[in-house]
Amino acid sequence: MADMLSPTAAVPAVIRRADYRVPDWLVPDIALDFDLDPALTRVRATLSVVRNGDHDRPLRLDGDGLIPLEVKVDGQVLEETQWHLEAGALIVALSSETHSVETLVELAPESNSKLMGLYASGGLLCTQCEAEGFRRITFFPDRPDVLSRYSVYMVADKVRFPVLLANGDPIEQGDLADNRHWARWNDPFPKPCYLFALVAGDLACNADSFVTMSGREVQLGIWVKEVDLPRTGHAMKALKDSMAWDERIYGREYDLDVFNIVAVADFNFGAMENKGLNIFNSRYILADPETATDIDYDGVEGVVAHEYFHNWSGNRVTCRDWFQLSLKEGFTVFRDQNFSADMGSHAVKRIEDVRILRAAQFQEDSGPLAHPIRPESYMEISNFYTATIYNKGAEIIRMMALMLGPERFRAGTDLYFDRHDGEAATCEDFVLAMEEGGQIDLMQFRRWYEQAGTPHVRALLSHDPVSQSVELTVEQMVPPTPGQPDKQPMAIPLRTALFDPATAQHHGDELLMLTEPKQSFTFTGFASAPVLSINRGFSAPVIVETNRSQADLAFLSAHDDDPFARYEAMQQLMVNVLIGRIAGHDVDDAPVIEAVRNTLTDPVLDPAFIAEAIRLPSEAYLGDQMKIVDPDAIHAARDALQQKIGAELEALWRDIHAGTKANGFSLSSAAKGTRKLRNAALHYLVASGAEDGPAIAFAQFGEADNMTERQAALATLANGTSAERVAALDIFYNRYSADALTLDKWFQTQAFAFHPDAVEQIEELGRHKDFTLSNPNRVRSLYGAFAGNQWAFHHKSGKGYRLVADCIIALDKLNPQTAARLVPNLGRWKRFDETRGALMRAELQRILAEPGLSKDVTEQAGKSLE
Ligand code: TRP
Ligand code: ZN
Repeated sequence: MADMLSPTAAVPAVIRRADYRVPDWLVPDIALDFDLDPALTRVRATLSVVRNGDHDRPLRLDGDGLIPLEVKVDGQVLEETQWHLEAGALIVALSSETHSVETLVELAPESNSKLMGLYASGGLLCTQCEAEGFRRITFFPDRPDVLSRYSVYMVADKVRFPVLLANGDPIEQGDLADNRHWARWNDPFPKPCYLFALVAGDLACNADSFVTMSGREVQLGIWVKEVDLPRTGHAMKALKDSMAWDERIYGREYDLDVFNIVAVADFNFGAMENKGLNIFNSRYILADPETATDIDYDGVEGVVAHEYFHNWSGNRVTCRDWFQLSLKEGFTVFRDQNFSADMGSHAVKRIEDVRILRAAQFQEDSGPLAHPIRPESYMEISNFYTATIYNKGAEIIRMMALMLGPERFRAGTDLYFDRHDGEAATCEDFVLAMEEGGQIDLMQFRRWYEQAGTPHVRALLSHDPVSQSVELTVEQMVPPTPGQPDKQPMAIPLRTALFDPATAQHHGDELLMLTEPKQSFTFTGFASAPVLSINRGFSAPVIVETNRSQADLAFLSAHDDDPFARYEAMQQLMVNVLIGRIAGHDVDDAPVIEAVRNTLTDPVLDPAFIAEAIRLPSEAYLGDQMKIVDPDAIHAARDALQQKIGAELEALWRDIHAGTKANGFSLSSAAKGTRKLRNAALHYLVASGAEDGPAIAFAQFGEADNMTERQAALATLANGTSAERVAALDIFYNRYSADALTLDKWFQTQAFAFHPDAVEQIEELGRHKDFTLSNPNRVRSLYGAFAGNQWAFHHKSGKGYRLVADCIIALDKLNPQTAARLVPNLGRWKRFDETRGALMRAELQRILAEPGLSKDVTEQAGKSLE
């Protein structure tokens, strides 16, 4: 056997999409009986199993770290010779077509530091089963195409666990001797085991209700610790808005009589869509003006919506296997993005979403971990909850929606939901429903599911004054990615308009479809050369290169009527100056400063848009524009331009800052936009070097009646070395150290800061008494944020790499899933100079040499070295 030949380097097995086989046994019903206790929980499971097809293979029930204390078939206890364990799974030979199989196991939730399966968090007991956590609770065919009806019985101490929740509807509850009590819940909808959930704890409820479009009343509950109850109002509003929106936009209504949400402090991801019992990272539930920023409020709204929308896109129609993950995640992200746009500003939401896509997904697509939205293989599925599956997946759905238009897209989704309700479906099923319901041929478009890498599009416009025509020549190139050296041309929808510079008008927005490696489009009736506006609304997730001059971009930054394209022109204008300067050219920055001035003084623009448009591209985005990233040169060039914009427009920044002080807090879009602009003005004012800058920031920090302004002031100060920096950090700590989510901001602000001693500060914060590896939010606030601070993390000494690698190694022993998510930061070594690249590789090798390394980290670090 392979492991015997090389006992130390156990290479995890590769799971392939092509190897899919239908399950050997189905489980139409399961009854679970929990005797809950943090130190020792007993789980008895009774499965009705049915042979699926004509075969004589045994029943195989996945298990991870479980020991069967008892195995019964049809009520008879089996001898230990009648079953065996194979890689953790329980194997039982069965003779008939149907049987009842019963197992008993014991768990220790309080020592479950992986936060997968049944675990303890802040005195609660809760579960996380997606993707493969159910096998840590009981023996079961842990795959999403085995759907069962669940009946759950729980017993627990009534004082410590007065509230007992599970999926579906509450059936009955009662008291027992010794201060114990019980509850029974039934979920009538067959579901895969990754959607199972239970919660036991001392929880208070924000109770409300919602009447569905068919007139059914649903009881809504958001369950939190008593002290947090006042912070649940925004989440409840978001839930009701989401329920109404899914009825209005997709015609989908909620299907159970209760919908519960529980907030927990220790959680590996954002939240989980368990049927009727969503479990959330508390950071996506709790919000009040004193502790939550506007970004936090929007995060709560978006994630509550996301999990709620999964009830149809994920639960009613689930995934056949984990290769189809984007079927539910890409579609659900698309749905939550559009919901948030409808609740606020479409323009600003699109800009924010594209910024996230570029920061997280484009980087993934150009690195060693690049994969298509429907991967071909994996070792550990948890590693595939990526920006590609989620955010690029959403862009693929968005392109289909654009090509179809709203009515035909809705016909496609109706067909998809109706045809696959109650089933485990594939991405291909979704595309087929779009083709049939939407009347479109998506043959070539399917390549978006198959090919990884961000397509590059080169669009060159040429004008012929004689024929008064313009020709747009477009070439596309999909770069090679691991395992995919050669690519086929993609179907790329590009919304395009040609502006007459004299009138600042265009003749309408056209959807150009690229299908060939090189194509040209001719437009007539142009006496003079128009200005090209392309990929408007970011209609395709591609990188566009054009031959537009700085003057063209300045024109678009002032006149494009597509808000995304207008923002994009501004960004490109800035990128050209910065990248040009980094390459040693003497590029004029006057057009940038004028464009910022124009934008600030344009009377029709809304403040939130202005704040987005005047923002300099991030250091990471600038790095993406370079063949070899030079973090120090990027930082210096960006800092200098920021200082110049700050100084040249100082009077404007002062006016805006003084004129945007609100009296009284509101969550209206207008108020949020005003705060965004006010913070941007403060940022530029401090960057200008004005002597009173830190004092103004410190005043805002102290006077703010909301966290959006207070935290922005703190972040601005954290970038410098003023006395106010130290004072503000101390005040913040003393005021908020008792509240974990707010203390996370204290760690995160310092981890994101541009400070000459950033690395030393992170090292010190890692030893701070409030730092802990056992809380994923805290780890992400410090090390996750630091690894995203390009200048600090890529310090040429390599000490930033060492810090993050040390964290990965230590965390892997507790929580491999969260540890593995830090690895990609070290994986982009090909994009850096040789010195940095060698240091990054050395850390990856050091990680891989660690004995007992998890499958999660082994896969990420191993692939990163290839
Ligand atoms: N399905 C969840 C979502 O997108 C993601 C998730 C929550 C998750 N917890 C997890 C994925 C744990 C893997 C492991 O809403
Ligand atoms: Zn999701």
